[in-house]
Amino acid sequence: MSTTETIEPPASGPAIRIRGLQKSYRELHVLRGVDLDVARGSIFALLGSNGAGKTTMIRILATLLTPDAGTAHVHGLDVTTRAARVREAISLTGQFAAVDEILTGRENLVLVARLRHLRNPGRIADDLLDRFALTDAAGRRVSTYSGGMRRRLDIAMSLVGEPPVVFLDEPTTGLDPQGRLEVWQAVRELARQGTTVLLTTQYLDEAEQLADRIAVLHDGRIIADGTLAELRRLLPPATVEYVEKQPTLEDVFLAIVGGNGTGTGTTVDTAAPTARATEDPR
Ligand SMILES: Nc1ncnc2c1ncn2[C@@H]1O[C@H](COP(=O)(O)OP(=O)(O)O)[C@@H](O)[C@H]1O
Ligand SMILES: [Mg+2]
Repeated sequence: MSTTETIEPPASGPAIRIRGLQKSYRELHVLRGVDLDVARGSIFALLGSNGAGKTTMIRILATLLTPDAGTAHVHGLDVTTRAARVREAISLTGQFAAVDEILTGRENLVLVARLRHLRNPGRIADDLLDRFALTDAAGRRVSTYSGGMRRRLDIAMSLVGEPPVVFLDEPTTGLDPQGRLEVWQAVRELARQGTTVLLTTQYLDEAEQLADRIAVLHDGRIIADGTLAELRRLLPPATVEYVEKQPTLEDVFLAIVGGNGTGTGTTVDTAAPTARATEDPR
């Protein structure tokens, strides 16, 4: 076993481990004890309504905010005591693209590679342009790019230096359907290369399309956590005589957060207080 630290995680254990995480903004208790594990190399979707605390959670994991209580480990490293090391192991792409409009796509990538003191910035840029299907647009100013292209470039920029864990905060919010499909393709490409992806979304179909595992953040806690198939099992099985209809993730989501999505409606008792589908196989 090596005595020097690398950015490789321990041989076992999740890429992200969160226990009892709490965060308030003054009297607003946003996170009230979040527990979550994200397996290495998986795409994990954190679902929640607007204001549920998704960005707050991502910012804590990215060391931009400190939690009030609880622990979070990323890549085996405590985000509060090992913040600098955590930052070397992650990238964060926010809802608003951080690309420079004046530069070309390639120049943006080369710039990031230079800032990170990497060798061969040009080759790194060309590889990423290729992986994210931006080679043809490489020499054009970003101001001429579509929303989907910008977001893809943004994700590509976050991969310079090959961080093993990538946070994507609402990667497709504000994109048109074509742009969303393009970004989904880019996210799948990330996972194909073994990167752990934690993405947040308000879009149920996005989680359904992309994620190996889905958790629902509601009222400050994870109220459901499982694969799509496991979450579907939280609802009573379909019992229509002639047609068997699988519940969509939307059916499951609305049932567990309470009919109108605000949590003030009725709740399905299988989901209260915490429904961990894996612990309740049927
Ligand atoms: N810096 C802040 N100061 C005060 N309140 C905040 C701050 N950041 C977020 N909030 C509030 O915390 C709640 C959760 O926000 P956020 O984590 O951005 O949710 P989400 O990303 O799920 O939409 C919201 O009610 C939001 O208004
Ligand atoms: Mg947010």
